[in-house]
Amino acid sequence: MLDKTRLRNNKLFAKIVTPEQAAEMVMNGMNVCVSGFTPSGYPKKTTLALAEAIKTGKKCCVNIWSGASVGPEIEEALAAVGGIKGRMPYYAASNKSMKKSINDGVISYCDQHLSHFAQQVDYGFYGNVDLAIVEVAAINEDGNLILGPGIGNIPMFIKHAKKIIVEVNTSIPLSLEGMHDIFILQKPPYRREIPIYKVGDRIGSPYVECGIDRIDCIVESDILDHVRDLVPPDAVSEAIAGNLVDFLEHEQKMGRIPEKMLPVQSGLGSIANAVLIGLNKSKFENLEMYSEILQDSVFTLIKNGKISQASGCAFTPSPKVWKMYKEDPDLYRNKIILRPLDIANSPEVIRRLGVIALNTPIEFDIYGQANSTHVMGTTMMNGIGGSGDYMRNGYLTIFSTESTAKEGKISRIVPMVSHTDHTEHDNMVFITEYGVADIRGLEPARRARLIIEKCAHPNFRPQLLDYLKYAERYFPGHEPQSLEHAFDMQVQFLQTGSMLK
Ligand code: COA
Repeated sequence: MLDKTRLRNNKLFAKIVTPEQAAEMVMNGMNVCVSGFTPSGYPKKTTLALAEAIKTGKKCCVNIWSGASVGPEIEEALAAVGGIKGRMPYYAASNKSMKKSINDGVISYCDQHLSHFAQQVDYGFYGNVDLAIVEVAAINEDGNLILGPGIGNIPMFIKHAKKIIVEVNTSIPLSLEGMHDIFILQKPPYRREIPIYKVGDRIGSPYVECGIDRIDCIVESDILDHVRDLVPPDAVSEAIAGNLVDFLEHEQKMGRIPEKMLPVQSGLGSIANAVLIGLNKSKFENLEMYSEILQDSVFTLIKNGKISQASGCAFTPSPKVWKMYKEDPDLYRNKIILRPLDIANSPEVIRRLGVIALNTPIEFDIYGQANSTHVMGTTMMNGIGGSGDYMRNGYLTIFSTESTAKEGKISRIVPMVSHTDHTEHDNMVFITEYGVADIRGLEPARRARLIIEKCAHPNFRPQLLDYLKYAERYFPGHEPQSLEHAFDMQVQFLQTGSMLK
């Protein structure tokens, strides 16, 4: 039940409506912008009611803009009833109807670098923000919005929204208040620097400015975010983490990383989570994170005293970690800052702070290009997310992954990636359970041999070396490739896993 702790101005109570009434505000063709980032902090009740209305005859198909992929109450519910026309700037494969509709061409999806989207909405590149639906923990006396665990792009959406639906979710702990740092960039030519000089710098306000009059209606909600448990670390991810820690410690010994460790960014998924957990065993103390997403491992590292400060645009606690948070909210509130996505992923700040970027690709090739998004170059697995923001601008850019996929049948190290998201010009280090290929300053021929020798699974190394020699012999040049053979090998890897036989 909504009370004065959640709605802190009496005028707000008059705006409470049912989800069905709120859903009536959504009109065919609208650009509908939602709060949240990954399954964290996104609205749920209104979109579920909208999906029901569409099922029973409402004609409504909209564009959904968000921070990243959100939860099934939007991605799944609306995609399944044909309620989504276009989707930006990110989606993740866990939402099956969305994945199918995008790959079938039913939903038009434009994959974007996540640091770009808010400013491009601000510039008016994609049209109006017709409606913003925002999930909050509370609304303050002045009608400003105290968000939940996921910010994404909602501050920019609220700035432009013609209509605003606020879902006040009573399952969000009020102890999150004070964690947010909302800062909106000016447009060029008036833009100034982002004054973040240390991970812990606060530069904005703890709420999104909105105002009572701009809120069209309020919906009560208590639905929890749909955060899935991550696969726990296993021998392979522990070996990857061990290689990473050895590499970082060596870099510090060589004086290429300063005595005070630089801030770390960690990507998405189970491997990224497990790799970060591995830092528990490192000699690094008082670690700082300047990242897009803060997964479960960050909470464990904070609890263990390893992380002293973490900045991101969302955190996605699994149910187990929410429980941990609730046992000591002050600990986490003091150490975590949540920022809008374009600030969390800002190239300017990433470069200034010297962030060490740790991401996971789907596959990478012997020359150092990486694919984060498309299987076999055609099927969209998930968006590029913030990986490009960090891999292009990091002090040190590291891709880590298991050397194979699909129970060892497919090599993740291939002759030529079937889709390029991150180029050889940006990627510096590759790590698998077998070792570390540091390709900084190397020409393609040495890069290729190092990547095969250090990163590929031993079962695939002979094939990759044969390929390299063949390409060098018949297609010599700075970066020898045989398009036909590169493709053949990939198909063979994917269809049969026959390299293992
Ligand atoms: N060929 C075919 N399939 C592959 C593959 C390959 N080379 N590599 C991975 N896959 C499949 C896996 O088998 C798995 O399929 P399943 O869901 O049917 O089991 C799926 O892709 C996901 O792979 P997995 O290794 O389990 O994922 P992960 O949890 O380690 O995450 C990414 C890896 C690439 C999906 C994830 O890091 C991502 O979304 N990256 C892009 C965005 C990003 O980097 N964001 C961070 C910015 S801050």
